[in-house]
Amino acid sequence: MRETELAEYTNGELREANQYQAEAKDWNRVVRTELEQPLTSFVSYPERCPLFGDGRFRGNCDGRLFLSLVWHYKALSVADPMMGSGTTKDGVNWLNAQYRGCIEYWGGDLSSGFNATAESPPGEYDLVWLHPPYWDIITYSDDPRDLSARVSYVQYLSRLFESLAQAAKAVRPGGHLAVLLGDIRRRGNYFNPAWEIWAGGPPGLGRLASVIIKAQHACGSDRVGYSSLPDPRIMHETCLVFEKQ
Ligand SMILES: C[S@@+](CC[C@H](N)C(=O)[O-])C[C@H]1O[C@@H](n2cnc3c(N)ncnc32)[C@H](O)[C@@H]1O
Repeated sequence: MRETELAEYTNGELREANQYQAEAKDWNRVVRTELEQPLTSFVSYPERCPLFGDGRFRGNCDGRLFLSLVWHYKALSVADPMMGSGTTKDGVNWLNAQYRGCIEYWGGDLSSGFNATAESPPGEYDLVWLHPPYWDIITYSDDPRDLSARVSYVQYLSRLFESLAQAAKAVRPGGHLAVLLGDIRRRGNYFNPAWEIWAGGPPGLGRLASVIIKAQHACGSDRVGYSSLPDPRIMHETCLVFEKQ
């Protein structure tokens, strides 16, 4: 290959690589394309989508599972009683802007004075999304009503069930309640809050419609070496979806 041809070839490759990078960063397009795929019981988002919420907020979630549920169930009204950095709010604003929609949104959080264990979101919604603290793995505040307070697992479960019961009250008949939770391993014991809800959660949640496993990426325990773990590393979260009867 002559030198000029080589330069053209290399530039061509570079152009292609740059274009690919630009395309990969077109998050609007990425999310639109993903939404059009059927939702399945396993989701994985290795790269956090920066369009929704604040990636620096500890324990935030990628907004795409939430968006897929809104899309799948054609929800026109949504509530999130533990909205944290506002991932779901941004998601609904994005959907409304991209598709000229008019999905209604309500969001609350203990940090803004809403106590999800004692209060129900005002009104009725097609979808209520709940993303509670995973016990005290991340402490959000020193408010004793915080689900991340340092209490026993039994006490945590009792608060979790209270917040689920409150959230379920705000789901319209035929609507859905989705709760995203992580498992916890502590001093050799394994805790599975999603299973506890499934096996004996509060009444009124409705029919279990789906269990979605979400691969967990970039969490704190990634820094622990594999060889130091006696049991398999937890690398997933569980989203339970209930349909209100
Ligand atoms: C896992 S974070 C939610 C993160 C959110 N999905 C995001 O992407 O930013 C859990 C949230 O629950 C809130 N929280 C804890 N206890 C609460 C309570 N009793 N009532 C309402 N919110 C509570 C915390 O303040 C925190 O923002």
